[in-house]
Amino acid sequence: MTRKTGRQFFSNPGPTNIPDSVLRAMNRATIDFNDPEFVEVYNSSVRSLKALLHMAEPGSELFFYTASGHGAWEATLVNLLSPGDTVLVLESGYFSEGWAGMAEKLGLVAQTVQADWRRGIDPAAVEAALRADAAGRIKAVLAVHNETASGMAMSMPAIRQAMDAAGHGALLLADTISSLGSIPFRMDDWGIDAVVGGSQKGLMLPTGFSFTAVSAKAVAAHAQARLPRSYFDWAEMAKRSHRSFVGTIPVGHFYGLQESLRLIELEGIDAVIARHHRLAEATRRAVRAWSGNAGPQLYGLDPARLSDSVTAVLMPDGHSADAVRKTAMDRFNVSLGGGLGKLNGTVFRIGHLGDLNEPMILGTLAAVEMSLRINGVPHGRGGVDAAMDYLAA
Ligand SMILES: Cc1ncc(COP(=O)(O)O)c(C=O)c1O
Repeated sequence: MTRKTGRQFFSNPGPTNIPDSVLRAMNRATIDFNDPEFVEVYNSSVRSLKALLHMAEPGSELFFYTASGHGAWEATLVNLLSPGDTVLVLESGYFSEGWAGMAEKLGLVAQTVQADWRRGIDPAAVEAALRADAAGRIKAVLAVHNETASGMAMSMPAIRQAMDAAGHGALLLADTISSLGSIPFRMDDWGIDAVVGGSQKGLMLPTGFSFTAVSAKAVAAHAQARLPRSYFDWAEMAKRSHRSFVGTIPVGHFYGLQESLRLIELEGIDAVIARHHRLAEATRRAVRAWSGNAGPQLYGLDPARLSDSVTAVLMPDGHSADAVRKTAMDRFNVSLGGGLGKLNGTVFRIGHLGDLNEPMILGTLAAVEMSLRINGVPHGRGGVDAAMDYLAA
């Protein structure tokens, strides 16, 4: 195997780059999870994570799992719902399909509000579906705040408004796996009942650690929920010393979490959000330049909904997204995200979330532009110039 020189530009939309200080914080000897030193690390991580979530409601709870995001999806469903309950899934793309499929496997009925993946959900259709549920069969609305596959974000306040306008009492569940720590999110203000989050994206940690933030209303719903659960049972967790985890606590992840949240606080969450917007906008300007000459284009068609954490790029007909990704990796040591589900082969994704700066995104964009050229993909030249013009302005 030939040696790849330099640092790999990891431009996937998750997992993301792990800051050196987070790696160092995690590189430590084992410690008992009841040791007062660790308990302080744990408690301070919980405080900071609640601040990031804008979660302060009395009676709310935060439960962690040693699992990737899929574990948190499952934990959230089994703790809040009963066999045969209906969940209203807001179609956004690959990940809303995945959560719906999991709900069905767990014995729930998944009713979908359909949406064009390139345009996103219509809140009026959500309101109509809830109004039509006179019998109150729908117990929860499942929304993927930021659809990592399509590069489109959903307005959670608009969904909350639609639910309130319909006067429907279902719980609102939000997947923030690729939004938290990257784009604005406010649990209490937006009336979110359960927030699903993961470690490996905006939180800049290794994969394998996830959580659910639970509103007081959802804590009450949990007491009535009858789906079978064991490892993920919040009632079991609440009995433990840390009010979370059934089993051994992954202490290393908390040393990392404490440090990554310290970095976010040091930069300031508003500055973090502004940086994500700036780098996302630079990426979009590059793609718009490439789209000349019948080249690749932004997958999302509604500019107001384009995500600031990931950009999905649609290839021109007859050209392979995976060939471009392979060239970027083999020639330039740049890792891009592939198209998921029905977008496989026609879409590639540029992740611009987490620990990232201007030269890193420019390096990635330059590698993409060169890879388009090498693969004979028609495109407008000057994508990197357009990004530089924007970033230097
Ligand atoms: C929005 C979203 N939800 C859920 C998941 C699943 O999480 P995991 O892969 O950590 O199990 C992902 C993964 O990329 C995601 O982006």
